[in-house]
Amino acid sequence: MDYFAYRNGSLFCEDVPVADIATKVGTPVYVYSAATLRHHYGRIAAAFAELSPMICYSIKSLSNVHVLRLLRELGSGFDVVSGGELVRAQAAGGEMSKVVFAGVAKTDAEIRQAIDAGIGLFNIESEQEFENVARLCRQAGRSMRAALRVNPDIDPKTHRYTSTGKKESKFGVDIERAERFFQTYGRVESLRLDAIHLHIGSPIYTADPYVEAVTKTLAMMERLRGQGFVIRTLDIGGGFAADYEAGKSPDAATYAAAIVPLLRGRGLEVILEPGRSINANAGVLLAGVLYVKQGGERNFVIVDAAMTDLIRPALYGSEHFVWPAKLAAGETSPPRQISHEAPGGVKVDVVGGVCESSDFLAKDRTLPPMQRGDLLTIFTAGAYGFVMSNQYNSRPRAAEVLVDGTAWRVIRRRETYEDILAAEITKE
Ligand code: LLP
Repeated sequence: MDYFAYRNGSLFCEDVPVADIATKVGTPVYVYSAATLRHHYGRIAAAFAELSPMICYSIKSLSNVHVLRLLRELGSGFDVVSGGELVRAQAAGGEMSKVVFAGVAKTDAEIRQAIDAGIGLFNIESEQEFENVARLCRQAGRSMRAALRVNPDIDPKTHRYTSTGKKESKFGVDIERAERFFQTYGRVESLRLDAIHLHIGSPIYTADPYVEAVTKTLAMMERLRGQGFVIRTLDIGGGFAADYEAGKSPDAATYAAAIVPLLRGRGLEVILEPGRSINANAGVLLAGVLYVKQGGERNFVIVDAAMTDLIRPALYGSEHFVWPAKLAAGETSPPRQISHEAPGGVKVDVVGGVCESSDFLAKDRTLPPMQRGDLLTIFTAGAYGFVMSNQYNSRPRAAEVLVDGTAWRVIRRRETYEDILAAEITKE
């Protein structure tokens, strides 16, 4: 569900024609819909309301500080995985008690930064990390809280690069080792271990893996409680899916219907770390068509966006729905299905200008005949889009725009060639 729709043949983001944005800001450009962000945040909050969860929006998925501010205003906390993300949470005015810090490779500097900031919870991923964070807390004369990230050995049935809860994963501590972990570290003063964290992967298209993981974890938690350990909090991570195709992902209420009954009445504070389910459908990437060419056996639509702007197709084989921002005369609004074919269309690959054969945004799509100067929309690009962009081939990164009703503004200007050189050429 999102607030992008064709009106009289032109794609609008809320009440703004996206072509107007492209004309004024240029392409490639990410366009986000504030109403869509609010909608999805609200759906999750409402679906889990019975548990009064703390929602910690996962900054890594779309980290623009203006988006973070919008979510903070809705009451969101933040899931951070680096010192840089912590700085973003602070810049957005985030409440530090609502910040959780995960990641297997926290440096001493980042840990000190988080202690100074007074974050709510360290999500701890190994024995050595626990000892190090506890040491740095003692050094700072502070007592902080920690969750143990447990690896429940559940298959979330998603791409192997984004599956995190199986035994071979680098994340967390095996569930078999978790009890021993509490026995060793569960009574440390400077770092109070009284919470459990899970994050099994992303995107997860059914509630079943959550049910399995939570059930396994609750059983372990009861054993720990039986041994006298206090467990106040269960953080079930992120991973809810988004509609890369219309109607593909379960609604927040569907996940909640399966998860809430497991957690009600257990005296637990529940944390959720959604990212993609809030922002994926809230963003599109607009690209200008530079050239159309026939290769040996394929037709190429060559655009000014590339894998440097949206790496998901190249990295995971992800499929984003791609369609022109302006419909042909008489064409009706396309269903957002990857297999949708324009009548009289041409089978094409949509590619960028980077010197890599993995540089494609879409393959084997039957689009209306495209021409130089046309505007293409890559849908469901809000999550892990701009944040994973880079300057390979010395391409300045795209601009980001936030639309809210009839209003819109640039929330990140397009990078310039000065930006490309900035960190290399220092003033004498
Ligand atoms: N919590 C933790 C500890 C995570 O590692 C992640 C995502 C999330 C929450 C948020 O997951 P979400 O609700 O957004 O699914 N680049 C990949 C996705 C990587 C996910 C990394 N962790 C992609 O483009 O599909």
